[in-house]
Amino acid sequence: MSVLIRGGRIVTAADDYVGDLYVEGERISLIGESLDVQADKVIEAAGKYVLPGGVDPHTHLDMPFGGTVTIDDVQSGQTSAAFGGTTCHVDFVIQPPGSSFAAALEDWQGKANGKQVIDMGYHMAVTDLKEGGTLEELASLPDQGVTSYKLFMAYKGALMVDDETLFRTMEVAAETGALVMVHAENGDAIDVLVKKALAEGHTEPHWHALTRPPETEGEATNRAIQLARVAGCPLYVVHVSCRESVEPIALAREKGWDVWGETCTQYFFVDYTFLERPNFEGAKYVYTPPPRAKENQDVLWNAVRVDTLSAISTDHCAFRWDGQKTMGRDDFSKIPNGGPGLENRLSMIHEFGVRGGRISLNRMVELLSTNPAKLFGLYPRKGTIAVGSDADIVVFDPAKRHTISAATHHSKSDYNLYEGTEVTGVPEVVLLRGQVLVEGDELVAEPGVGQFVRRARFGQELKPAPAVA
Ligand code: URP
Ligand code: ZN
Ligand code: ZN
Repeated sequence: MSVLIRGGRIVTAADDYVGDLYVEGERISLIGESLDVQADKVIEAAGKYVLPGGVDPHTHLDMPFGGTVTIDDVQSGQTSAAFGGTTCHVDFVIQPPGSSFAAALEDWQGKANGKQVIDMGYHMAVTDLKEGGTLEELASLPDQGVTSYKLFMAYKGALMVDDETLFRTMEVAAETGALVMVHAENGDAIDVLVKKALAEGHTEPHWHALTRPPETEGEATNRAIQLARVAGCPLYVVHVSCRESVEPIALAREKGWDVWGETCTQYFFVDYTFLERPNFEGAKYVYTPPPRAKENQDVLWNAVRVDTLSAISTDHCAFRWDGQKTMGRDDFSKIPNGGPGLENRLSMIHEFGVRGGRISLNRMVELLSTNPAKLFGLYPRKGTIAVGSDADIVVFDPAKRHTISAATHHSKSDYNLYEGTEVTGVPEVVLLRGQVLVEGDELVAEPGVGQFVRRARFGQELKPAPAVA
């Protein structure tokens, strides 16, 4: 199968030019002006942007969490991603405490088999190094293409690890070349604040934020940075939401330390006041870290502009409001934490980042595709448009208007964080390794086309080679 994408504006993290792109099989084989080639399929892209497929480094599909299971499985979550211009993501395998990493990985792969619409990799979330996983087993994961370890410094009594587990994992990462990711919040302090609030009769959704003050995020971010420094491993701080955690990351990066951070789409648009919406509507915005005071949104825009934060993910952890979020009607601490968003990242960041004059088109591509691919061992197979790279391509119509709504999105969630938001600019055609996935409103490819990608170790390139199914 060959595809010619003709006359589009090809935009990567570094380049921006009009040209033709020729795809043979799964890879980009030619880029040039007015290419004289025959193709099985020709896509006319004049007036459109031709972008590398999005890479989302932070998602939770089919994940048991908060007394329930996230509503999007691999098929619905990845379908949603494909419509949003994301062609590869890295999902979290959670080690059930007491279980081996191998068993957890097998379980997650079983949930994905036959359902994959886009390509994917896995991070391993370490919960227990005493009863279940061993250091040796952890050290062997990068050989299987699982090259990042995640630790939750919050969710006490569930996923939270102590500093010993955090630090031992960091030491293993320093040896194996894995990247350590942290959910940085002080879970012990938050647990005290939650119990106190409930004892005082505060049960409404906005208490989720009041019991997780930004300082608890700042403290944990700084702790993780200092411990990673001692262990000598690279560190990536997930879902940075506020000034208190941006500042220690900025300082570490000024010093030239191996520290990176991401924020997520929702932190630019949803603020604390959303949690106060009446009739338990506020529960839709209960995710962690919580929506913050509005002034943090400018801090985050600036941080992504100056590369204090290097990626924007979605932290897609979708639940239904009706039946799942409502589990916490009488107790905010029982509201499952998380929200949908996998489908909306590109259009939202294009609308308010690029069209809003906050970041350039190149920087958008860098934040949504190139940097996640580089940081998570997928580059240059993913994350760019270059000869030899996977033909994961988004033909983006920058003039088409769209109103975001749960009525039309592809997630199984019954609400959308950005309901009613009007955007100009949507993916028109999405290709995965040369195969058309999405054309307009249609999912063209069958589930099963996506593959598991064995990622390279931190700082290493992923050479163009067949992905392993
Ligand atoms: O609320 C969130 N973010 N849920 C997903 C788990 C996590 O902390 O990333
Ligand atoms: Zn988290
Ligand atoms: Zn998450």
